[in-house]
Amino acid sequence: MYEEFKRDKYCGEVSEQDEGKRLRLTGWVHRVRNHGGVVFVDLRDREGVLQVVAEEKTSREAYEVADRLKPEFVIGVEGVVRRRPPGTENPKLKTGNWELVAEKIVVLNESAPLPFPVDEETPVSEELKLRYRYLDLRRERMRENLLFRSRAYRLIRDFLYEKGFVEVETPFLTKSTPEGARDFLVPSRLHPGKFYALPQSPQLFKQILMVAGFDRYFQIVKCLRDEDLRADRQPEFTQVDLELSFADEEEVMSLSEELVALLFKELLGVELKRPFERVSYREALERYGTDKPDRRFGMELVELTDLFKESAFKVFREPAASGGKVKAIKVPKLLSRKELDELTRFVRGLGAGGLAWVKYEKGALSSPIVKFFSEQEKEGLIRRTGLKEGETLLFSAGDKELTYKVLSALRLRLAEELGLKREGFDVLWVVDFPFAEWDEEEGRFTPLHHPFTMPRKEDLPLLEEALKTDRLEEKIALVERVRSRAYDLVINGEEVGGGSVRIHKPEIQQKVFKLLGIGEVEAQEKFGFLLEALRYGAPPHAGIAFGLDRLLALMLGLDSIRDVIAFPKTQKGVCPLTGAPDFADPKQLKELKIKVLE
Ligand code: AMO
Ligand code: AMP
Repeated sequence: MYEEFKRDKYCGEVSEQDEGKRLRLTGWVHRVRNHGGVVFVDLRDREGVLQVVAEEKTSREAYEVADRLKPEFVIGVEGVVRRRPPGTENPKLKTGNWELVAEKIVVLNESAPLPFPVDEETPVSEELKLRYRYLDLRRERMRENLLFRSRAYRLIRDFLYEKGFVEVETPFLTKSTPEGARDFLVPSRLHPGKFYALPQSPQLFKQILMVAGFDRYFQIVKCLRDEDLRADRQPEFTQVDLELSFADEEEVMSLSEELVALLFKELLGVELKRPFERVSYREALERYGTDKPDRRFGMELVELTDLFKESAFKVFREPAASGGKVKAIKVPKLLSRKELDELTRFVRGLGAGGLAWVKYEKGALSSPIVKFFSEQEKEGLIRRTGLKEGETLLFSAGDKELTYKVLSALRLRLAEELGLKREGFDVLWVVDFPFAEWDEEEGRFTPLHHPFTMPRKEDLPLLEEALKTDRLEEKIALVERVRSRAYDLVINGEEVGGGSVRIHKPEIQQKVFKLLGIGEVEAQEKFGFLLEALRYGAPPHAGIAFGLDRLLALMLGLDSIRDVIAFPKTQKGVCPLTGAPDFADPKQLKELKIKVLE
């Protein structure tokens, strides 16, 4: 047997106009307490909580049902709305001035004892939370996050439709789209031994939609990347993906700014200052050691390389004299021996040889290494860093990339440890990316964005030259000077979006593939369809994709993007709710002609 019960409105929407009215409400028992002769039930639905009062004197029957209720039972209540007696209002609730006096309570379903309480935000392990995600989603915080996300979808769609964008779906069973991660593969039953790749992004399809003449495309779309997971990374995540024909970087950036500013305004009431600041890739690296700087606190890196070119201190001289870097970061306090040891361990973990330091203490520089410094070096050091009494300098010397990596990680760690204020939103574009970097390990160039990014027109001759020379060093030097027409949107030190003007000329695309070490055969095999499409009247085009999960988590001040995703995976890529990934049925594997190796 089961009961049926129709409601009149949401609990969370009961208001002034309902006073004295008879209403039927449904929901979950949020909290229940018996005060002898009267049971108070907080009744909850998606829109909020309303207090239900079951008084023995009003309805004995309702009172008796109420007395047996347990948290998370699903009930229907019929009763009359009354104003709460003075002094018993609950200002924390939207509906806190009213209550429903129950005349009839129907239990629509019961709930087993809960693995964790729903009515309070007690900390629960990630594993347990995700295993019972439907209970976690009933909690106020997660419910609010997902409703926030839903409002964002609507604003984004309305905005883009208003701007003349067409929503088009692109396939999930497709060929590899290189975005720098591993592909998830899906075996084909009809073509044993062949695999579809799940898209790392709709990049190639959106470009082909431009060739097809759709002019302005968008999609709010899942992207799938088999990478190691972190707080801001999920194997499937959502992009707001755009592409525009006959547009350049200025048009894409200005439209993006309008969209992002709209979301901040409508969802948070925050006005972002426009246009967003632009910082070049080089400058970001030099000042913050990263291409996604959080500029809400100082502690910028100080350049010291030239100062130590002839130093007696070998640790600094060698990198300074041979193309490496010596940079420092100033800490506004005297770090203790113990703190320095800990930080040294930390940077060693990142691959640094050590962590040289200098303190300004009792009117002088103090450190085991100052004895190696000349007067000129000491003076220069103080002048450039502005080092004062009571402060410490931390140095990183070595290979350029490593120095950036070490100091940017140190900077973030110190900000955390020193409790530096990081409030508000620091929004910027990072621009002027080099087109590609030499990857020593792989022995080839890797693009900083994807291989479909257009180089700057004025840098194309460098690219041509680089293709001509066989001398690797010269090639690297030339390629390093080629800038791409790409842009990344960074907020509070997180990359929340990235895009570029694309290559629409097949001959340029071919050259770029060649430079990236993608041979003609491989290019044809992997991207032949794109190269072919570019030959049939491809318009100039440009676009961008925003990481929606990251953007929303950041707006809500959340540590992990899991908190804006209904059913995320754990750090290990597992869904504790469904148990995915799981072993496949041997019958299914046989059909797919797949054998699993031990
Ligand atoms: P890109 O690879 O930079 O660009 O991705 C765009 C944005 O998606 C977000 N993002 C992620 N979010 C959560 N988990 C992940 N694993 C993850 N990976 C990326 C980031 C990132 O800025 N096709 C291009 C875009 C273009 O050129 O138009 C692309 O996919 O916030
Ligand atoms: P050493 O000469 O190896 O005893 O190093 C002298 C100091 O320099 C020690 O404090 C080391 O931690 C530090 N040091 C060593 N290598 C580096 C490096 N690459 N960058 C910064 N400091 C370093």
